[in-house]
Amino acid sequence: MANTTWLLYYLTRRRFSPSFRSFFFIPTSLALFTSLFILFYISTTSTLFFSNQQPSIPHLNQPLLSSSSSMPQINISNNTQNPFPHVSNVNRLNENDRDGRESQRSLRPQFGSSDGIYVNNELFHDKDIFLEDYKQMNRSFKIYVYPHRRNDPFANVLLPVDFEPGGNYASESYFKKALMQSHFITKDPAKADLFFLPFSITRLRHDRRVGVGGIQDFIRDYILNISRKYPFWNRTGGADHFYAACHSIGRSAMDKSEEVKFNAIQVVCSSSYFLSGYIAHKDVSLPQIWPRQGDPPDLASSKRKKLAFFAGSINSPVRERLLHSWRNDSEIFAHFGRLTTPYADELLGSKFCLHVKGFEVNTARIADSLYYGCVPVIIANHYDLPFADILNWKSFSVVVATLDIPLLKKILKGISSDQYLMFQKKVLEVRKHFQWHHPPVDYDAFYLVMYELWLRRTSVRVSLPVSKNPNH
Ligand SMILES: *[C@@H]1O[C@H](CO)[C@@H](O)[C@H](O)[C@H]1NC(C)=O
Ligand SMILES: *[C@@H]1O[C@H](CO)[C@@H](O)[C@H](O)[C@H]1NC(C)=O
Ligand SMILES: *[C@@H]1O[C@H](CO)[C@@H](O)[C@H](O)[C@H]1NC(C)=O
Ligand SMILES: *[C@@H]1O[C@H](CO)[C@@H](O)[C@H](O)[C@H]1NC(C)=O
Ligand SMILES: *[C@@H]1O[C@H](CO)[C@@H](O)[C@H](O)[C@H]1NC(C)=O
Ligand SMILES: *[C@@H]1O[C@H](CO)[C@@H](O)[C@H](O)[C@H]1NC(C)=O
Repeated sequence: MANTTWLLYYLTRRRFSPSFRSFFFIPTSLALFTSLFILFYISTTSTLFFSNQQPSIPHLNQPLLSSSSSMPQINISNNTQNPFPHVSNVNRLNENDRDGRESQRSLRPQFGSSDGIYVNNELFHDKDIFLEDYKQMNRSFKIYVYPHRRNDPFANVLLPVDFEPGGNYASESYFKKALMQSHFITKDPAKADLFFLPFSITRLRHDRRVGVGGIQDFIRDYILNISRKYPFWNRTGGADHFYAACHSIGRSAMDKSEEVKFNAIQVVCSSSYFLSGYIAHKDVSLPQIWPRQGDPPDLASSKRKKLAFFAGSINSPVRERLLHSWRNDSEIFAHFGRLTTPYADELLGSKFCLHVKGFEVNTARIADSLYYGCVPVIIANHYDLPFADILNWKSFSVVVATLDIPLLKKILKGISSDQYLMFQKKVLEVRKHFQWHHPPVDYDAFYLVMYELWLRRTSVRVSLPVSKNPNH
């Protein structure tokens, strides 16, 4: 490849080849050092940074913010209301710090500190930035889809389905269907930010000509075909390409196509950063959503009498632990095997709904509980949660480490009713982001996946033809 192509390639992947490293190193380290120095200076002079760390300094105990602040006011003076239940050693706050408002403004999470924790109850990490970026994404983001004819022998795999997707793996089909009819599509590859590989893992799995055993070869051949026919794949080694898959088999599907695994953006439901097939920050977590239309009729009026609910089969050590600790409990209802009561009633009648890792970190249960207004409790270590770049999961869910399953009741009962109401309010706000629509609706699951892709687009366009320069 020509030098310029390499430069562009490496810039877009935010890595530098050795010859460019020193070129970037000096200004970068200067900038870093200066920023650190400024931060250090501010932190030694400003009271904002140390409000919790030094509660013994009298003036720090006065609230820094007026009570008219838009910050939600919750009582975090009680250790049992710990909003980070998976961080086990957050201790009781200093009594003088009882108001808690300073803590919420602290810029540093104080994990493990003896007297402070950082609480952000906003649904978005930064709503203003999100809305601004979203507008830009919606205006300018362009996707090129490799074209396939209706009479292609694999049209069933490559074209969007012509029915309303349903069931457990619907996210994959919904996403493709919505994308192909959206204004993000461009027929001009020169205008494209990203290239979509339109194969469907779920459809391949059910295709008798391919099946589970043939998926790897199919993907390898597909990539070979498009890399011969078009110049786009070779330009970046697939780095500006993406595919979407909800079935976990997608992970092994790429085993004969390493460039897809390591360069392309994988939009997948089974987004466990513990496993090697998924690379956090490069790949995108696709929410697994069992599609439901409209709202449940009794969403607002439901009385949530049970503390927590789970139903499912025992197919993992994590679920075995849950069973072992809570099978006969009168407050945590853990049903294993077939439910005898309607699923919807259980989700509407419980305060918390448990998402417990099974074969994979993901299931449709998180979206189910949000749909029914139940606060999700996530017990799935290493789950790269969907839309985590955008949404503050701590504002509408409780994350519990597998190790803490025996403490589950203590953790959930330790959440005050004020904190619970806050969670539930956010659950009702976040619901719309976990729903598919056809055609898509602003800010729904489709648009948020597009936003996640937009964040991962290459910032420099690669538009140079591949050079045959033998010196490089
Ligand atoms: C916060 O909780 C503590 C302990 O439960 C209680 O004594 C105090 O009055 C509460 N403060 C507010 C502002 O609700
Ligand atoms: C604070 O915690 C104690 C136990 O440590 C509990 O008895 C009390 O009800 C809690 N107060 C609130 C307001 O949650
Ligand atoms: C996004 O684009 C679509 C299609 O142009 C438009 O209907 C919609 O209003 C836009 N949404 C926002 C928030 O700009
Ligand atoms: C690749 O191209 C060949 C020749 O056109 C075709 O027969 C084959 O089905 C293609 N394979 C895939 C996976 O696209
Ligand atoms: C891309 O690279 C592959 C493997 O090196 C090669 O077979 C193919 O011809 C290249 N494609 C183009 C369009 O040059
Ligand atoms: C739960 O109840 C069943 C029978 O009802 C009993 O066999 C089992 O030992 C109990 N398990 C626990 C953990 O208490």
